[in-house]
Amino acid sequence: MSNAPAPSKGLADVIVADTVKSKVDGQNGRLYYLGYRIEDLAENATFEEVAYLLLNNRLPNKSELEAFTASIANQAAVEPDVINIMKQLPKNAHPMAVLQAVVAILGMLDPEAASSTPEANMNKAVRLIAKTPTVVAAWARIREGLEPVAPRTDLGLAANFVYMFKDRQPTETEIDAINVYLVLLADHGFNASTFTSRVVTGTDADVHSAVASAIGALKGPKHGGANEAAMKMFFEIGEPENVENWFKSEVKEKGRKIMGIGHRVYKAPDPRAAILKVRAKALAESSGNRKWYDIAEKLESLARADEYFQERALYANVDYYSSIVLYTIGIEPDMMTPLFAMSRMAGWTAHIMEQWADNRLIRPKANYVGEIDKPWVPLSDR
Ligand SMILES: CC(C)(COP(=O)(O)OP(=O)(O)OC[C@H]1O[C@@H](n2cnc3c(N)ncnc32)[C@H](O)[C@@H]1OP(=O)(O)O)[C@@H](O)C(=O)NCCC(=O)NCCS
Repeated sequence: MSNAPAPSKGLADVIVADTVKSKVDGQNGRLYYLGYRIEDLAENATFEEVAYLLLNNRLPNKSELEAFTASIANQAAVEPDVINIMKQLPKNAHPMAVLQAVVAILGMLDPEAASSTPEANMNKAVRLIAKTPTVVAAWARIREGLEPVAPRTDLGLAANFVYMFKDRQPTETEIDAINVYLVLLADHGFNASTFTSRVVTGTDADVHSAVASAIGALKGPKHGGANEAAMKMFFEIGEPENVENWFKSEVKEKGRKIMGIGHRVYKAPDPRAAILKVRAKALAESSGNRKWYDIAEKLESLARADEYFQERALYANVDYYSSIVLYTIGIEPDMMTPLFAMSRMAGWTAHIMEQWADNRLIRPKANYVGEIDKPWVPLSDR
């Protein structure tokens, strides 16, 4: 028997580092980036403004924001070689797998690939934030057999994404929905993918390696993949009148988890979900199709009224209503997690730089519970 303390399964409640980037107050349902409330940022900031805040630990002034926004737009294009490689990938590949592979390729082509100075890391961060929407939009078209649309230098990141994705002028509603989504998901403490990026950085590996690893962590349905899983669940339910039966048979009888509900840290409503719920309703109403919103709202109310969900403090998280917001503006379920990655790119790279500023190998210990000193058995005797 080992005398080591019992491990904290899933590292729950373990504090592994200090950060100034974001504070997730799970008891009170509050989220802050660098001290600013998420509600204020969602109401007032562009995604570029939030990315600047996370990377530089302060809000930009007007000229700094203009220069940063222009720098993002000017670096949004990806090399034709990258597009050619993407065209060789299997059309049915998951967009997150494609994004992970392309980030690794961007790392090979990066002009400062061999350097990890603070300046080089900041340049890489800006390049990654700028190019990810282009890669995501390009893949959405390539897999349909369409030619990707090159980014414009006169559009902000949210508008440029919609323009490349749809090959037409974006509407104000689309720009606003994408911008709010990107602002809300940009950072969230030591979530699994951000922690992954910091672990990889702890080995002194380069920014692109850390980000490619973070993309792998984000893909899972317990993390960023939950928006895709939530939308597929709403499809499965099909109609608002099926919600009650579905909840009874799938959740109460079969014990299935509701995708987009529950959170490791929030034991109060997720403040991002409240903002997205309002957007989802408005978008659904203006699109003339409230069906998916109605299904989501009905299922959430059933869960909120249920003792099991109440006892465990399980509330809708950011992925629940964001799936409706994104689907209503034409984003297919498997493209939703790549949009999450477009946003979290700001948080990942900010954390990677924070890690670099005071870097130490992240190497916890395991509690070995197997046997020792077993006699060696020759192959012929086994
Ligand atoms: C987010 C999540 C992974 C948190 O995991 P965690 O902190 O390890 O919490 P647990 O999975 O141990 O959940 C605690 C309890 O609530 C239950 N629970 C958690 N989420 C649930 C859900 N969405 N539906 C039904 N029950 C749920 C668990 O079964 C567990 O019950 P138990 O105490 O009887 O064993 C989990 O809530 C989940 O899988 N949610 C659905 C996926 C999702 O939306 N992920 C995105 C998160 S932003």
